[in-house]
Amino acid sequence: MQKLIVDGGKRLNGTIRIHGAKNSVLPVLAATLLTNGQSIIHNCPHLSDVDCSVRILKNLGCKVKHVNSSVTVDSSNSDGFEIPDAMMREMRSSIVFLGAIIARHGQARISFPGGCELGPRPIDLHLDSLRQLGVIIEEDHGFLHCKSNGRLNGAKITLSFPSVGATENILLAACTAKGDTMILNAAREPEISDLADFLNACGAKIHGAGGGTILINGVQKLRPSEYTVIPDRIAAATFLAAAAATQGHLILQDVIPAHLSPVIPVFEDAGCEIDIRGREISIIAPRRLQSFKTVRTMPYPGFPTDAQAPVMAASTIADGTSIFIETIFENRFKHAAELMRMGAHIKIEGRVAVVEGNNRRLWGVPVEAADLRGAAALVIAGLAAEGTTEITGLQYLDRGYERLEDLLSGVGASIKRKNIEEDIKK
Ligand code: EPZ
Repeated sequence: MQKLIVDGGKRLNGTIRIHGAKNSVLPVLAATLLTNGQSIIHNCPHLSDVDCSVRILKNLGCKVKHVNSSVTVDSSNSDGFEIPDAMMREMRSSIVFLGAIIARHGQARISFPGGCELGPRPIDLHLDSLRQLGVIIEEDHGFLHCKSNGRLNGAKITLSFPSVGATENILLAACTAKGDTMILNAAREPEISDLADFLNACGAKIHGAGGGTILINGVQKLRPSEYTVIPDRIAAATFLAAAAATQGHLILQDVIPAHLSPVIPVFEDAGCEIDIRGREISIIAPRRLQSFKTVRTMPYPGFPTDAQAPVMAASTIADGTSIFIETIFENRFKHAAELMRMGAHIKIEGRVAVVEGNNRRLWGVPVEAADLRGAAALVIAGLAAEGTTEITGLQYLDRGYERLEDLLSGVGASIKRKNIEEDIKK
């Protein structure tokens, strides 16, 4: 077990390069299954979710290497079509491999991905969409047995909710189907466009990704390709929140500012000065952060649910009341209880959290993370707190942030990672 030890009260000041987007790398790695050969994916961060995706590809018979920030996948001899229960439980977003496995092998066997720390995480939209493409899916003793009779058939699919994962599974299954597929009410997240760009680089014919209606002209087969995924907009938003919480001045390099357009106005409302130059964003936070007013999470291009926890952490030391409305996930306020242990004033009513900042100081205490973005929120609170904060539950943090403590130390934070066994030995 490990913990982070943060000595708070230090202003962040410096430059941070943003790593590749976790939520792009996962579907793009799944997509390499569809290309009969060796693809190289650049800008892949070393995260436990990426490591899990690499293990899934190896389990499916691919040769995979992750060297520096490039992942090389040779799927020529892929012969597996099962994802074991342990892997599905380790990363429930492994569901995004389903469409690719079926399109490549004509069958798939995966265990029903359980819920996760954010709530039940249903996959009905994924399964209904795949059935419309001709996949026969039987649920048996917690496993999904999926089969297709030869190539899938294009279909017109309307999603009742613009699900990111379901949109990705349709793209992965439909790009080599017979005929055309249209997705109505598709997710519009930048990671969808990134996946479509990779698939098109491999020879797919996908039009309109990034918008609500996507047209896919099925092709016979795809070829391997070399590709660089987009920067992680949620990691960027997390560092903006860290600057805001520490009256800091950060320059974020290698971002795509347009991907942060739902987030930047929220920080400007709170009194931060944001400057955009090409692929760089700089933030100068005020000495007294103002309230974040009302932050409502929505599908892109609305405010991203993944940035809710980090921004809430910054709002706890703002001068005023901020309201957070979490419309995407049922159970995404777990970090609030830990922030309250640090002295934050937060009231939760269902999907609404009211944070009374009043420029309250936080104090450092031992806290425990319960999910990925909640872990980032606790780090941000620790940076702002007086005294020392000890954060456990780093297995969540390491799913989505590469070397977070090194990057923060590089811009003035006092933060280090320790093995808890060390303490017990003393
Ligand atoms: C993706 O999850 C991201 N994960 C999540 O990021 C992100 O929070 C989410 O999109 C929303 O932007 C990856 O890309 C790996 P959804 P996904 O399908 O695909 C309901 C992080 O922190 N729903 O858009 O699972 C679902 O219950 C992670 O990086 C159904 O009802 O999100 C939820 O309420 C967390 N039925 C809502 O839709 C379905 O079949 C959003 O889910 C599928 C989803």
